[in-house]
Amino acid sequence: MLPRGPYTSRMAKEKTIYTCTECGGTSPKWLGKCPSCDAWNTLIESVAESAAGKNRYSTPHQGLAKASDVIALADIDATDMARTPTGHDELDRVLGGGIVEGGVILIGGDPGIGKSTLLLQALDSLQRAGLNTLYVTGEESGAQVALRARRLGLDGSQVKVMAEIQLDKILATLDATQPAVAVIDSIQTVYSSLLTSAPGSVAQVRECAAHLTRAAKSSGVCIVLVGHVTKEGALAGPRVLEHMVDTVLYFEGDTHSSFRLVRAIKNRFGAVNEIGVFAMTEKGLKGVSNPSAIFLSQHSEPVPGSCVMVTLEGTRPLLVEIQALVDSGGPNPRRLSVGLDRDRLAMLLAVLHRHAGVACMDQDVFVNAVGGVRISEPAADLAVMLAITSSLRGKALPKGFIAFGEVGLAGEVRPAPRGQERLKEAAKLGFSVAVVPKANAPKKNDKAFEGLTIHPVERIEEAMELVRRLD
Ligand code: TYD
Ligand code: MG
Repeated sequence: MLPRGPYTSRMAKEKTIYTCTECGGTSPKWLGKCPSCDAWNTLIESVAESAAGKNRYSTPHQGLAKASDVIALADIDATDMARTPTGHDELDRVLGGGIVEGGVILIGGDPGIGKSTLLLQALDSLQRAGLNTLYVTGEESGAQVALRARRLGLDGSQVKVMAEIQLDKILATLDATQPAVAVIDSIQTVYSSLLTSAPGSVAQVRECAAHLTRAAKSSGVCIVLVGHVTKEGALAGPRVLEHMVDTVLYFEGDTHSSFRLVRAIKNRFGAVNEIGVFAMTEKGLKGVSNPSAIFLSQHSEPVPGSCVMVTLEGTRPLLVEIQALVDSGGPNPRRLSVGLDRDRLAMLLAVLHRHAGVACMDQDVFVNAVGGVRISEPAADLAVMLAITSSLRGKALPKGFIAFGEVGLAGEVRPAPRGQERLKEAAKLGFSVAVVPKANAPKKNDKAFEGLTIHPVERIEEAMELVRRLD
């Protein structure tokens, strides 16, 4: 046997190792390049399994357990999961009906958008409904949370509050108090003493989220993790966080306007892309049950560069105004988009030039989805192109005009999913002219579209020609 030198004995005591996020290779110290797969900057701190003695995630009895039974799918008693409504209809909508026992929800959004406010309101309703709740705050003191609760009009609230950032203490409290719902505000402030890296680092976030997820699954507590977002708007921390949890919700919206959207990006217990709409008032967030027209700016007369579209993300159609400004630019014209994909904008400009002869090569192009909504569906293409052309020509689109449809690289206008529902919503809100993909146009005269003249188009040049005739 080799003698144990000072180096090996020191190594054996070392608690942490560095693991590559790409290949899983390990190194005893941090390196810029992974020694196994040569990837750069992929090593992150993690706990060495041998140092922890046993698998950190296993509970004692799991180690002794016999193999689990194997059951045919058909024989599993699969009654739908019991959901507890939070008492806030718009939040329940994105959650798929309410919170689920043992579910882990991650909620992200810009600072100050209302994450803590909404969760405190939801916890209070759940507590009033007789559930045991716990609010763990790592960012604010208990007094600050209490002050917010007073402002929200939640006087006499029985929600339990704990100001704590140490993972072990949080887990011990969850174990001791057995709440039905616990909010961790935020996961970036929690740290595990097994790791030396700072709270909020990739290693800490991953470790703490894994432990909390385990706790949720084994004890049945529903855990809501608040997550910070990076400057680009993605959740800070490892992508693996989104894989670990059951539901991922994002807060969207312009902090300057009072409307906020909560969108489900992933939901193991419900539909994705469902959106909940809230308005920020002096008494906290209030659900907006009929939101279809709140993202339209109120022009008394049509203005150039504006086109309304109907987006259908989730189950409700939403009318959103797309604005474009085309202005002469320098040698390197700028393309900027807010709420829409910038790469897609570049593509649409190329299609516009190639297939409709509208050139913006020497122009700055700015596009914006009004109200801070983020539109990810390609059905916005046609409205974006019409708004750009309208701004370039300085000619407004007709009054009461809407358009939607995806535009392909060959200049074809492709149908949007559930086009008739979109058209019905537009007709209901009093819009009078619609340019839509041919496949979305209704076959026969339906009463639901009364007052709406529908122009089906197959190609982008056709749409441009049509709009010119409508002037
Ligand atoms: P907050 O929930 O603290 O945001 P987050 O946790 O996402 O960082 O939201 C705070 C903002 O909301 C703050 O700018 C003030 C505003 N606000 C109201 O307008 N009305 C209210 O009743 C409350 C509590 C906050
Ligand atoms: Mg907060």
